[in-house]
Amino acid sequence: MRSILIAPSILAADFSRLGDEVRRVEEAGADWIHCDIMDGHFVDNISFGSGMVATVRKLTTLPLDIHLMIQHPDHYLPRFIDAGANSITVHVEPESKHDVAKTLEQIRGGGCRAGLTLNPATPFAQLEPYLAQLDLLLVMTVHPGFGGQPFRADQMEKVRRARDWKAKNNPALDIEVDGGINPKTARVSIENGANILVAGTSIFKSPDYAAEIRALREE
Ligand code: DX5
Ligand code: ZN
Repeated sequence: MRSILIAPSILAADFSRLGDEVRRVEEAGADWIHCDIMDGHFVDNISFGSGMVATVRKLTTLPLDIHLMIQHPDHYLPRFIDAGANSITVHVEPESKHDVAKTLEQIRGGGCRAGLTLNPATPFAQLEPYLAQLDLLLVMTVHPGFGGQPFRADQMEKVRRARDWKAKNNPALDIEVDGGINPKTARVSIENGANILVAGTSIFKSPDYAAEIRALREE
C-alpha cells in the first residue's frame, strides 16, 4: 500500500475527451479520481453532478473520491452513492444546512468512506465534534469553487492539528489536501501530515501526467 495517494481532480480535465483523460491518469499512476461537485449556491461555480460520476464509474476501477460543495448534501447523497462513489466528503459550514453527524452516518450507511472538510476561513474547531466519525479529513488549501488558485500555506496549521489528532486517536484517518497542489506544495503538505493529495491543474495541464504524478508523490 502506498503511503502517499494522488487523487487527480477531473475538474481540470478536457471534458471533450473524458474517457481518455481518466485512462491516462490511471495509467500514469493515479490512486483515486477526485470529483468536484459544485452547485452554484454553496460555491460560485457549477461543475457537474451524479450523472457524470456514474459515467466516470464506467471508465475506471479506481476509487471515486467525491467532494460535495453543495447546499443540502444530505438530500443528494443517495444519488452519489448509487453513482458509484467510494468516499464522499461534505463541508461543515452552517450554510450547507445539514445535520453533519447524520450526514456522515448516511455516507457510511451507503457503504462509502465518510469525509469532512472546511473552507480556509472556517476554524478547525468546527470539525472537532465530528473527528471520531471520520475516515477522511480534507483540508481546503484554496477557497473552494475554482481550480488553478494559489496554495494557501496558512492552512497547514489545520493539517498539523489533524495529524496530532490522528496520532492520538485514529492512525487510519486519511488527511487530504485540495487546492493549488504542485510538487512544491505537495512536499509542504506531506511534511505537515497530509497523505492524500488532490491535484487538478498541475496534472491535467502538464505534458506528462506520469512524470507529474511521480513528482507529486516523491518531491
Ligand atoms: C476547488 C476544488 C479542487 C480543485 C483543485 O474548489 O475542490 O479540487 O479542482 O484544483 P487545482 O489543483 O487546480 O487547485
Ligand atoms: Zn475538491
